[in-house]
Amino acid sequence: MNNKSGKSAQAQNNNNGYLKVEQSPALTGEVLLSGAKNAVLVTIASLVLTKGKSILHNVPASADVFEMMELLMCLGATTFFDTEQHHLFVDTTYLNNWIVPAEIMRKTRTSILAMGPLLARFGKVRIGGLPGGDAIGKRPIDYHLKNFAKMGVIISQEGDFLCAEVDALQAARLVLEYPSVGATENIIMAATRAQGATKIINAACEPEVLNLIAALQKMGAKITVEVPATITVEGVDNLQAIEHEIIFDRLEAGSLLIAAAATGGEIYIPDASADLLDVFLLKLEEMGHTITVGEGGQGIHLKSTQSPRAVSLKTGPYPGFPTDLQAPMMALQCVAEGISIIEETVFENRFHHAHELVKMGAHIKIEHNKAIVTGVKHLCGAEVVANDIRASMALVVAGMVAHGTTTVLGLHHWKRGYDALENKLQRLGARVSVHEQNHDQIWFFDERSKDKNLRKTDT
Ligand code: UD1
Repeated sequence: MNNKSGKSAQAQNNNNGYLKVEQSPALTGEVLLSGAKNAVLVTIASLVLTKGKSILHNVPASADVFEMMELLMCLGATTFFDTEQHHLFVDTTYLNNWIVPAEIMRKTRTSILAMGPLLARFGKVRIGGLPGGDAIGKRPIDYHLKNFAKMGVIISQEGDFLCAEVDALQAARLVLEYPSVGATENIIMAATRAQGATKIINAACEPEVLNLIAALQKMGAKITVEVPATITVEGVDNLQAIEHEIIFDRLEAGSLLIAAAATGGEIYIPDASADLLDVFLLKLEEMGHTITVGEGGQGIHLKSTQSPRAVSLKTGPYPGFPTDLQAPMMALQCVAEGISIIEETVFENRFHHAHELVKMGAHIKIEHNKAIVTGVKHLCGAEVVANDIRASMALVVAGMVAHGTTTVLGLHHWKRGYDALENKLQRLGARVSVHEQNHDQIWFFDERSKDKNLRKTDT
């Protein structure tokens, strides 16, 4: 693997670092977005369906992207990531392997999305270990497996490996009991090479799914999306390499708006599309913040109120309130006036950040899938632990409004989800910095030194 920054995938996924956050002034200014992590990961997986050289544009340099590159290289692809221009080049001409090693599978849950494309390309796949990633709930893959089975795939367990095999993928009428993003994506990708037309009913229609569909259509796939949430995929014989633009990250946009709102700031995000964040924006307005949207829904401007009111919300599949913004939104509610009730309906266990916020002085009570947040005047800096990507953002937001210093451990989650978001926050005025311990301090033995002292250096 190559990339212009010269960093290896391992270096990107540093496990030892932390974020240091100080109480910050009102965030102010204009900020650009990176490409959507959740859109690019699945699009990289979809390139397994093609034979040839593809280029993806607007690719965020987040650690999960490096993991997906590593996965594709294991399968025989070559990759080159220009991290300055955000172009990712992938050549899948000589793909020759259908085994996904356990170590890759454990690092990022998204590696399960290679299953559909590998079944379509080779008729077989062997997956070592269970998917890794965030610690948000059980995150089973039963919808993926049940529906592959309905397409004729024989699934078995061989030691630590999940094995799947099929002579020819069969089209089917598939009903998802819940509109799972990953299951929808995996089934669509497999169905592009199935015999006949596959219908997915109650499919996820998140913008990231639609971005994948656009990429697949460029490859030559025949896919239609109908109301209400039915996706039909007609199998084709061949899919070609593509050039494709990844959509901007609506979750990064939401995170930045929350950070600005928390600090009483005023920011403008020209790349953000209001159509992708409507319910979330409604909740910011209900808190008292002023949202102005540009022509055609493009470009979002936020001017914060200095006396935010608490609002209640319930997460749900798109176009509902995104579960990925629930954690940072909770940090915002911690200092709003009144009581807000946050109901998490997507993941059964996505409130770990609440315990960390309580360490900072927040008043939060958890009752099953509801968090009852009573606004307080101040939070206090503390050492806290992020155990998923969005929790890391929540704790950074809390740190920006807290008195004193906040240390957020679990830096690797931050780096998995965002492309140097700390730099964007700093430019808006935030006092946040990343500390990668194994980069800050590397000890080496200096042979030139007579007394053979150990010396410390920065690299
Ligand atoms: C994706 C996003 C993640 C987001 C989530 C919901 C990526 C890389 N990640 O995750 O950021 O929070 O959508 O918008 O795109 N479920 C099952 N069985 C399955 C699959 C899912 O029970 O086979 C359940 C999950 O446990 C969860 C719910 O369905 O409770 C939604 O999960 P899903 O939409 O599949 O999330 P991901 O695709 O993993």
